[in-house]
Amino acid sequence: MPDTLPTEAVGPLLRGIAVLREISDAGGGASLGDLVRATGLARSTVDRVVATLARMGYVRLDGNGAWLAPRLMELGNAYLAALRLPARLGPPAERLAEELDESVSLAVPDGDGIRFVHQTTRRRAMSLSFRIGDLLPAESTAPGPLFAAAGWSAQDWAAWRARRAAAPASARSPYAVPPRPADGDTPSFEERAARAAKDGWAVDDQNIEPGLIAVAVPVRDPHGEMVCALSVVSHTSRHSADSLRRTVLPPARATAAVMERELRGADPAAQARAAGGLAHWTGASKQELGAEFVESLARGLTVVTAFGEGRAELTLAAVAETTGLARATARRALITLEHLGYVTSRDRLFRLTPRVLGLGYPPLSRTALPEIALPYMARLGGRLHDSVSLAVLDGDDIRYTARVATERVMSVNITTGTRFPAHATSMGRVLLAGLPREERAARLGRTGLPALTPHTLTDPAALATGLEEVAREDHALVDGELEEGLRSLAVPIRDRSGTTVAALNVAMHVSRRTVAECLSEVLPELRAAAGLIESDLHVVGRFSRVSAS
Ligand code: PHB
Repeated sequence: MPDTLPTEAVGPLLRGIAVLREISDAGGGASLGDLVRATGLARSTVDRVVATLARMGYVRLDGNGAWLAPRLMELGNAYLAALRLPARLGPPAERLAEELDESVSLAVPDGDGIRFVHQTTRRRAMSLSFRIGDLLPAESTAPGPLFAAAGWSAQDWAAWRARRAAAPASARSPYAVPPRPADGDTPSFEERAARAAKDGWAVDDQNIEPGLIAVAVPVRDPHGEMVCALSVVSHTSRHSADSLRRTVLPPARATAAVMERELRGADPAAQARAAGGLAHWTGASKQELGAEFVESLARGLTVVTAFGEGRAELTLAAVAETTGLARATARRALITLEHLGYVTSRDRLFRLTPRVLGLGYPPLSRTALPEIALPYMARLGGRLHDSVSLAVLDGDDIRYTARVATERVMSVNITTGTRFPAHATSMGRVLLAGLPREERAARLGRTGLPALTPHTLTDPAALATGLEEVAREDHALVDGELEEGLRSLAVPIRDRSGTTVAALNVAMHVSRRTVAECLSEVLPELRAAAGLIESDLHVVGRFSRVSAS
């Protein structure tokens, strides 16, 4: 990274990224006052930057400050998609985790640290578990010595020594873990790197955290260059560092070999990416928000999303074409991003660096569906003045996972965790309709269909026909079948693969609207909210598993 600021650097982009980094480092949210203090920017500048980021869907503003929003993950997704390692190596990593019943991760080098790009976590009592995008100091990890041995230049070693010498005990660590004092018995990092070069594996024997042990092996590209490290992570309650190495090294090496074969496979055709329309969008936003919208910040960040699968290395012309930006604008954005270390260039080709994941990816990567949905549910409830709920199928019931209650329309009090029989509710109907046909039939045959009111459908054949219709119409309307006087309308929430993972509904007293009004007034709003939730879900779920509850 050049030290001096290039004259062409885009100021607003620098300031926008400074604000994003600050919110990320603060764990996902910060007050505007804190942002002013931490960045040294003027309050009016912070206001405009966060207004612009909010407009982009990258942060959410409330009375307390600015919060990272799921859509921000599209920046990290651009890097991960361009990298292609998670997509290609995820399945063998998953199989290894299954075989060993231990967590498996993939990490890439990032300066003198390692950055996780994939995690397959076992449900195990472990004191610490890292997230995609987390950065750890190389010397505390198993992959670190492998990367140092494989590719660190004299300059990299010098940077590492400088960091260690500085030992910023007071300054906030850029890493996901606090520094641990070295104890006299453990070999130095230089020794571990030399040993890794000889052995082709490396171990982390509780360097990061007491109890946590990991063994890592390199995964190389067809040119023999180490592209990532495959780690198996365990705990001293199950293994010693030695027994872990003996048990996992052979299968880990076999998996690395499978991964290397995968990397030798043909690249799928470069994905043609729908050309931006970005210039139009930023123009319209500018018109709407006026001085509050910092166009050059929005454009600069969108340059990151020009990269992706099959688009790992782009020329300036390709970036300009994909984003719809003028070449000069794209060029200045790239220069700025390169100055900040988010982009590198070689032979006129630009590529993203793992640092992009530092822009909010780790705190957002564990966002569960209810958290994604709640802001949209609150907005919908506010517009309709009706209760809005989210539920999942749990056995033969639905279980509420989020709720925004505007007024109480039911005699029972519904809270998160409340269960109702699926067959008598609109959300249940949508969830049942989303099941594969055979499973739907099996369920209807198995459960009794108790009547909760005189209107409850209790005939399996009638319910089966009803579910066909729900599947066709993609919504369910249920009138008084769960409780007299209660009318509710639900639509599905689908993940990236098209599987229904939850249902969203609006519930009201029958006196509020006729069925026709429900369909003409509420359904479009409900669908729009579901669409926004799905769109965020697809961003968050691209490289992470999103919990439905
Ligand atoms: C992890 O994947 O959580 C991990 C990997 C290597 C380490 C420590 C933790 O050295």
